[in-house]
Amino acid sequence: MIFDGLSAVGDDLILRISILYKADNNPNKVDLGVGVYKDADGYTAILKSVKEAEQFLVNNQQSKGYLSPAGNPEFNKAVEELLFGKDHPVVKQGRVATMQAPGGTGSIRIGADFLKISHPDATVWISNPTWPNHFAITDMVGLKSKSYRYYDIKEGQFLFLEMLEDLKAAKEGDVVIVHGCCHNASGADLSNDQWDQLADFMAERKLVPFIDIAYQGFANGVEEDAYAVRMMAEKLPELLIASSYSKNFAMYRDRAGAIAVVSPTAQANEINASHMLKIIRSIYSMPPDHGAAVVAHILKDDSLRKQWYQEVDDMRGRVKKMRLLFVKKMTEKAPNSGFDYIVDQNGMFSFLTLLPEQIQTLINDYSIFMMANGRVNMAGLTENNIDYVTDSIASLFKA
Ligand SMILES: Cc1ncc(COP(=O)(O)O)c(C=O)c1O
Repeated sequence: MIFDGLSAVGDDLILRISILYKADNNPNKVDLGVGVYKDADGYTAILKSVKEAEQFLVNNQQSKGYLSPAGNPEFNKAVEELLFGKDHPVVKQGRVATMQAPGGTGSIRIGADFLKISHPDATVWISNPTWPNHFAITDMVGLKSKSYRYYDIKEGQFLFLEMLEDLKAAKEGDVVIVHGCCHNASGADLSNDQWDQLADFMAERKLVPFIDIAYQGFANGVEEDAYAVRMMAEKLPELLIASSYSKNFAMYRDRAGAIAVVSPTAQANEINASHMLKIIRSIYSMPPDHGAAVVAHILKDDSLRKQWYQEVDDMRGRVKKMRLLFVKKMTEKAPNSGFDYIVDQNGMFSFLTLLPEQIQTLINDYSIFMMANGRVNMAGLTENNIDYVTDSIASLFKA
């Protein structure tokens, strides 16, 4: 027998929180766990630009025949421009290949499989804390990984100097996963100046950035959030970029993402792309088209593109407003609670600087669900639940 020797692996923590949330009967329950954007009514709605593009596809799509392993060519071109901007030198030099993949996760997986072929001895450096799938994927493809200090959860502090200190131990050719913007889980991002310093540091030590950008547009704007990608592609000869369109197009289940490789020469780039295509063929042959076709249509249609930019601005604006409101109310209700750092963080996530037992009290006694380490999705806050949430947290400081 070969199928009776395994022991069960633990289930995904975030799924466990979702199950607990669904099963809870408290009418005031709040879900700050799951990482999806929610609107002012607490709902993950379909964007208007997406609905319109879907309608366009229903009316106009003529065939659902196979495409190539690289997926939808219009999508690849459009997201390459979203990432690199118009006329980026590496694009003009033919040193970039961008391939559609199933979501950000699928894109990171293709990038990791590619690393396993191109540089199997590389150690992949991963921020502590991070989105747990970075470890899961590198482990699954058999790459070595190490973590670097990034954020102090207890103190609510970004650790840029400690990050550089830890990365001094990286060897030439090692790979460093960085979050392009809106770091998940801390919300703490590098400033542009710090990105420049990191790029110089990595160029000097011949390290390879692997940029995971899953929230473009959620920090400061679609163009602004591409700073790290565009600058690093100019300063470093080779890098990988995994992008996700799950959040900024609110198409979580349609799995639109892309893996881009930047190579030192156009010739190397063709060879690298051929390996990526081989990897893709052996896993899923070609990615699912619908989400990518929607993104491609929106980005090439001037008026839909404008509308989408506005919708991204609205999502970003709402989360920022909730951050401000949360900190204002906490300052009023519990002046020593010390959540000021949350205002300056980006994207949907932050850690609450609470003790593990305080987090459990919020979950068990108040039905406010979050990750056990205190990671919260600020988009789960609404004008309707913010008083309940801040009153509940303030009560922890009164005991
Ligand atoms: C940092 C980071 N990278 C990648 C992803 C994956 O996104 P997708 O849902 O497109 O696979 C996520 C999703 O939560 C994320 O937070």
